[in-house]
Amino acid sequence: MPIVTLHKNGHVYTDEVKAQTNLVVRAGIRQFPYPNLRYECGMGKCSKCACRVLSGAEHLPPPNWKEKKQLGERLEQGFRLVCQLWIEHDIELEQPEAPPERPAAPAGTVGTTCT
Ligand code: FES
Repeated sequence: MPIVTLHKNGHVYTDEVKAQTNLVVRAGIRQFPYPNLRYECGMGKCSKCACRVLSGAEHLPPPNWKEKKQLGERLEQGFRLVCQLWIEHDIELEQPEAPPERPAAPAGTVGTTCT
C-alpha cells in the first residue's frame, strides 16, 4: 500500500493509505492527512489543495485540464492539485502555508460586465 508523506508548516506527517486513494476524499472523512491538508472544493476549482510533489511524481498521470487551468506555471515547479490525484504509489508532498497564486486571467476576462 502507498506511503504518503506530507510536509506542512515544518512538520512531517506520514501514513499508509489504500491504493487508488484520493487524499482530499480521505481528509473529508477525517482520515489522514486530516486535519493537515488544506483543501476546499474537492473538484479542481479552488487550488487550495495544491501541493508540490517532492518524490513520486513519476507515478502520477499527466496534469488534467483543471490542474493546467488552476496551476499554470506552478505545474513546472512540481505542483499538483491533490484533489485530482488518485494515489497508487508512495508519494511525498509539500503544501505551502499559503495556496499558490492562481495564474492571471487572460486579458479581457477580468472586470468584464455583460450588458
Ligand atoms: S480542493 Fe479545490 S482544487 Fe483541490
